[in-house]
Amino acid sequence: MPQPRVRDCMSDDRCAAARGSVAGVVRVIFVSADGEKRQEVEAPDGANLLDLAQANGQPLEGTCEGQMACSTCHVIVEAADFGKLPRALEAEEDMLDLAAAATRTSRLACQITLKSKMESLTVFMPSESHNMQGL
Ligand code: FES
Repeated sequence: MPQPRVRDCMSDDRCAAARGSVAGVVRVIFVSADGEKRQEVEAPDGANLLDLAQANGQPLEGTCEGQMACSTCHVIVEAADFGKLPRALEAEEDMLDLAAAATRTSRLACQITLKSKMESLTVFMPSESHNMQGL
């Protein structure tokens, strides 16, 4: 079956394949803090980034289990992908202010719901983590 041309596509699976992605799936690339290790995984639409990271052995504690009471799920989103995410809530930004090694593209993984329209998302593990519950 011939692949549809991308400009003829809006939302079906064949069109997604033509764009290099599969409808309903997000490709997430986890990169270690030193940049040495890359892990690519696929996640279904609606998956939580922290759950995905933990299920794939990434070093994110997620101590408060998504209650925004720690920053142990802090990740740094690749600048080119940052605009794919909805804005952080003020409470998330307040918690990121306390995260070690936070940058302008930092987010709390527990607050990120993956959407297939993102197609892909690259996130870096921070070089340090800070656990507010341990204080
Ligand atoms: Fe604690 Fe995300 S798991 S803020």
